[in-house]
Amino acid sequence: MRILGIESTCDETACAVVEDGKRILSNVIASQAAVHEVYGGVVPELACRRHIDVIIPVIEEALAAANVTLQDIDAIAVAYGPGLVGALLIGLNVAKGIALALDKPLIPVNHVEAHLYAAIMSAETPLSFPSLGVIVSGGHTALLAVHDVDTFTLLGQTIDDAIGEAFDKVAKMLHLPYPGGPHIEKLALHGDPLAFPFKGGVVKGRPLHFSFSGLKTSVLYTLRGQNCSRAPLEISPQEKRDIAASFQRAAFDDLIKKSHLSLEMIDGHALFFGGGVANNRALRQRFKEAFPSTKLHWPAENLSLDNAAMIAGLAFHNHKRKGISDLPENTLDLEAATRIPFSLA
Ligand code: KG4
Ligand code: ZN
Repeated sequence: MRILGIESTCDETACAVVEDGKRILSNVIASQAAVHEVYGGVVPELACRRHIDVIIPVIEEALAAANVTLQDIDAIAVAYGPGLVGALLIGLNVAKGIALALDKPLIPVNHVEAHLYAAIMSAETPLSFPSLGVIVSGGHTALLAVHDVDTFTLLGQTIDDAIGEAFDKVAKMLHLPYPGGPHIEKLALHGDPLAFPFKGGVVKGRPLHFSFSGLKTSVLYTLRGQNCSRAPLEISPQEKRDIAASFQRAAFDDLIKKSHLSLEMIDGHALFFGGGVANNRALRQRFKEAFPSTKLHWPAENLSLDNAAMIAGLAFHNHKRKGISDLPENTLDLEAATRIPFSLA
């Protein structure tokens, strides 16, 4: 089954053609990072305009790179959420249009689940279940029990900022460019991770939940003093490196501690990672050290940031499992979902 996937949940416009959930024929990503960089974060209105400008050329490029035409496609998959509503609507409406014109099924895909599927589709089979899914993206931080390639239940999630968002906000405080994650990683290489006693948040009664807003505020107070009375960059270059390293260490300490608890709880066999922060080399090294006898599955390089191959890939399994029975009778009735709650374990 050959599926055309479309992704436009945030600031990447992407299209991919994937066969049978695994074989990637093309994977085109148009990043808008340069558009939003000057503002230090994604500006939704600008994201929408850029999606409109590039979505058709991106689809055409993905078809050409896969050496197929729309007639060779068996179904259209689209990330229908979670994400920015305007951005979602553009991908969704283009996908509906193509599905209607071709009279082919439209398969809605949850963007966060697809991030996890990116590591699953990158892994050698056979896979062992249950396993633990660790989502560390710009919009989400979640620990999931992975029961099968397409079946997940939530164990814990953030109650405020996502981990990637915390990286981006701390980077902004340190006057680093957007997106800040890779810049913090680079700076942290030459900093002392124990220079500042930063800690991840504890959520009362929910040991597997995350809270990063306190950590972010600790960084702010360190930079500006308790009453934000200090001038913003009255810190030495070495202090800046130490703050980056200590923040990163604290965020990863917290993630590792809660991943350990979760893996034990589900008696899991392996770990699957999804989302942009999974690109971080220090994170990978820390997990390797913390889970020496557990198989760790990382998304392939071109599948860790937002992309449509993971959308088309997971769509294959969603379709196989559910057919199109879950869909509204009329394809046109499918709606964008800015938030999609996970089912709790
Ligand atoms: O998965 P993604 O595209 O976001 C969402 O779908 O929400 O990931 C983007 C996030 C940004 O917050 C970015 O700063 C972070 O991933 N990121 C990193 C690294 N590369 C990307 N964070 C830490 N270290 C990195 N190397
Ligand atoms: Zn994403």
